[in-house]
Amino acid sequence: MLKEVVKLLKDVKAFTPSSEEELEVFRISFLGKKGHLNNLFATFKDVPKEEKKEFGKSINQLKAAAQAKINDFKGSFSSVENEEKIDLNRPVPSSNFGSQHPISITKKRIIEIFNNIGFSVSRGPEIEDDWHNFSALNLPQEHPARDMQDTFFIQTAPDILLRTHTSSVQVRYMENNTPPIRTISPGRVYRNEAISARAHCIFHQVEGLYIDKNISFADLKQCLLYFAKEMFGEKTKIRLRPSYFPFTEPSAEVDIYWGLKSDSDYRITKGTGWLEILGCGMVDPNVLENCSIDSKKYSGYAFGMGIERIAMLKYGVKDLRLFFENDVRFLNQFSSL
Ligand code: DAH
Repeated sequence: MLKEVVKLLKDVKAFTPSSEEELEVFRISFLGKKGHLNNLFATFKDVPKEEKKEFGKSINQLKAAAQAKINDFKGSFSSVENEEKIDLNRPVPSSNFGSQHPISITKKRIIEIFNNIGFSVSRGPEIEDDWHNFSALNLPQEHPARDMQDTFFIQTAPDILLRTHTSSVQVRYMENNTPPIRTISPGRVYRNEAISARAHCIFHQVEGLYIDKNISFADLKQCLLYFAKEMFGEKTKIRLRPSYFPFTEPSAEVDIYWGLKSDSDYRITKGTGWLEILGCGMVDPNVLENCSIDSKKYSGYAFGMGIERIAMLKYGVKDLRLFFENDVRFLNQFSSL
């Protein structure tokens, strides 16, 4: 009996709890109802008389040691306990990483589609001279077609202006490169227009230019069909309507078939089911010559599209102004793209 008490006393001395729970288990095993001490007290009556004194002393010693141990550690685990309450599996609150602007997403996709068929990317200045924005593109001074694009002038005589279209980059590219030429030119353009759901004074375009020997209108058509399918889906149909641009001859406007399934389809397609996406044509020989390219040897096509317009169709955005307001409730809708 005494031996057991001595052993338990050793255990108590050696015990160092590492948590409140461990200390509680210790308390129950020594001081609990069915704990060691109660058991030992219960055996007291069976202890031979001459040993009773020493036995009693030793269990009291054991009880005091156990109690002292508990007192020493009680409450000392509060910080450890708090740490353990941190739930490492809890999902982290989402951080606001921002998202790409829908115009950037659309621009990147357009670039990717044309990169895949060998078009490079070229850029030009937003502040332009008259030659690159107008004259070289077959729009001499006083040409009535200049009115098609209301221009912000920075300076007159000589005219310096904010480019009204990315067709100016065509001219710069042809002046500095020799055919074969295959390039697209994305960028910002400016027009003196009243701001509305369908028009803005700043917007974005992508210009396309392909110059080589024996390039025909059929090449242009095939290239644009490829683009429309990549952008809007394999089943997309296109049509070309005759049109007029000073820098191309013949010229066309390209529509995609949008369908007439809903009331809004009727409204946005004016009851035709078709929606215009871009302008295009065979580069006018005058433009080639203006850029020192032999128009007898080379021919080519060009096209120009508004990035906002493509993005509006692709994402069902009904008001162009949303692209410029930068309302996070609008922009967040594109965060997964
Ligand atoms: N520059 C024209 C515009 O801003 C778009 C355009 C039409 C570009 C026909 C072209 C083209 O290269 O061939 O409206």
